[in-house]
Amino acid sequence: MFDVEAIRKDFPILSREVNGKPLVYLDNGASAQKPQVVIDAISKAYSEEYSNVHRGLHYLSNLATEKYESVRAKVARFLNAGSEDEIIFTSGTTEGLNLVSYGWAAPHLQPGDEIVLSVMEHHANIVPWHFLRERQGVVLKWVDTEPDGSLDPQKVIDAFGPRTRMVCVTHMSNVLGTVVDVKTICHAARERGIVSVIDGSQAAVHRPVDVQDLGCDFYPITGHKLYGPSGSGAMYARAERQAEMRPFMGGGDMIREVTKDTVSWNDPPMKFEAGTPGIVQTIGMGVALDYLMEIGMDRIAAHEAEIAGYAMERFKGLNWLQIQGAAPGKGAIFSFTLDGAAHAHDISTILDKKGVAVRAGQHCTGPLMEHLGLNATCRASFGMYNTKAEVDVLIEALELAHELFA
Ligand code: ALA
Repeated sequence: MFDVEAIRKDFPILSREVNGKPLVYLDNGASAQKPQVVIDAISKAYSEEYSNVHRGLHYLSNLATEKYESVRAKVARFLNAGSEDEIIFTSGTTEGLNLVSYGWAAPHLQPGDEIVLSVMEHHANIVPWHFLRERQGVVLKWVDTEPDGSLDPQKVIDAFGPRTRMVCVTHMSNVLGTVVDVKTICHAARERGIVSVIDGSQAAVHRPVDVQDLGCDFYPITGHKLYGPSGSGAMYARAERQAEMRPFMGGGDMIREVTKDTVSWNDPPMKFEAGTPGIVQTIGMGVALDYLMEIGMDRIAAHEAEIAGYAMERFKGLNWLQIQGAAPGKGAIFSFTLDGAAHAHDISTILDKKGVAVRAGQHCTGPLMEHLGLNATCRASFGMYNTKAEVDVLIEALELAHELFA
């Protein structure tokens, strides 16, 4: 059974006040709060089990290595990867996508080769491909979203041409909440020898993910959005692709042997993990994933669908509020603007006075904002611990903002 009140009690920060009001935290798309088990695990890792990993032969180093490495299997289980060797630890999705750009794409793509991407990608799934455009003449081919904010997989597939080498799309938009049928896209890409990169930053937080079923080549996720520590992350990278990748960062741990004239690499995935990693962050991420898997991602998805449905109903009653994106099955992420042209920053400041935390701005999605013809939106992004009562607080705060700016 999914007991939201019990879950809320696991998150100490949710009982605090801000600006003299109970906190209503609706900025989960930017970063989620942490349950006590994660906070305790971080404290325990530093106070009882800390040392560097993979290097020492002493007790603590072995213990820290064991704790750290055990997270690979947890991520593999969380994403249903075929093997834990297909999991590369990163500092988050941004590092994962840059690793794909430097490690796989840069050595494989020629001038004139194409990367297909959707207009609603986050900058983390755009800028690493712009590097390739700028530096080696790769062409970026953009696919627009539909008027309801959905992405038609057939339009993505229709954009594939003889020079298309990669397709990079989000599984769930951080602005519109649109869930993309990436399975259809990945399978079509695979049939054509096109490498698929699916940004899992948002989707993995809100629904079960099965990378084998999706058929993708790369699927990066971010620990801090998954109720884990900041600076943690991981990426599913198909073994076949890892074998084709050159290392991105050089340093300790990723090598087998270094001489004055030669260097040879460690086996993947360590080949892509140079230097001392985010040891404690990764251990904390493992605890967060255990926590999520214990609750069950399908239960979390069902709870959030209920919240999303309720929020949509309540928003319908506000004829001065424009919600961006109404794709069928969209997640509990709502970007909006208000009549009266109040700037998103002003609206978020008023909401904040009522204890409601939202994000305002471009949400790192310049091309999407251009496509929507907007400078900025406010965004309320829900997580597993949010409630219908919090939707009501949001609505009251929005009504106040509307009165002030009308
Ligand atoms: N990508 C994060 C967001 O959407 C930071 O807010």
